[in-house]
Amino acid sequence: GKVAVLMGGASAERDVSLMSGRGVLQALRSRGVDAHAFDPAHSDLGELQRGGYDRCFIALHGRHGEDGTVQGALELLGIPYTGPGVMASSMSMDKIMTKRIWRAEGLPTPDWRLVASTEETAQALQALGTPMIVKPAREGSTLGLTKVSTPEACAQAYALASRYDPEVLCEQFIEGDETTCPVLGEGAGAYALPVIRIVAPQGNYDYQNKYFTDDTQYHCPSGLPEAEEREIQRLVVQAFRSLGCRGWARADIMIRASDRKPFLLEINTSPGMTGHSLVPMSARALGISYENLCVGVLATATL
Ligand code: DAL
Ligand code: MG
Repeated sequence: GKVAVLMGGASAERDVSLMSGRGVLQALRSRGVDAHAFDPAHSDLGELQRGGYDRCFIALHGRHGEDGTVQGALELLGIPYTGPGVMASSMSMDKIMTKRIWRAEGLPTPDWRLVASTEETAQALQALGTPMIVKPAREGSTLGLTKVSTPEACAQAYALASRYDPEVLCEQFIEGDETTCPVLGEGAGAYALPVIRIVAPQGNYDYQNKYFTDDTQYHCPSGLPEAEEREIQRLVVQAFRSLGCRGWARADIMIRASDRKPFLLEINTSPGMTGHSLVPMSARALGISYENLCVGVLATATL
């Protein structure tokens, strides 16, 4: 049947989604799938039903794509889609809800405060210590994120984050190794792919260094001790299951330099599939090509 690759959308990550979507579209077509690009920013989702699409590959990122809203619309239209369902998508998009679940489940995540003003941001810095990360609660690709080290920097950091989302999160910064790890499957069958260790210029894995420079180094195999690799894989599967995720996702983890303790930062339920993206890189380390990854994810599409 016909497959729609949902890509573009109206979120701040629109450009990233277009890059992901083009990759996925080309890969599916190369495997003989009757795949078509569909941009919800330009067409009403009802067109999917009228157009006779029987599955959707969601390559949208961020608001109205990764946050349960499109998933809900597809539920109503009765069209199976890739990735987590409505509630898991919605909770995973919101870093505060995510952290509440993880904390309640006893999973390690850096301490945080929800703030609604510059003043509360400065208070959070006092409580959490220096440096601290200020970021929008529901955004991706590090958009709107600032690392803050002084009270004077709080106003600008809060203003920037709140441009993306009225909900702003302050989080303790974990100094150490930056890693990410994909999870595939569902329930008791969920499993982690190899861990990637990311070494960005000046430790700054920002939007530019994520998608446009070639200066970021990605290590996969991670080069971490075997026990640490296994611990991260165990943790990300728990993180995935605790939020009720299915299909696929990618969790980001910092390993604290001082004691090698891993901390979960967030989980991405519509992971990037661009030429610089991480899930394809991890899959490749297991011998899974980009094309096979796309076909495999599509096969998990469900309602
Ligand atoms: N939000 C981007 C697309 C990612 O997590 O890969
Ligand atoms: Mg993210």
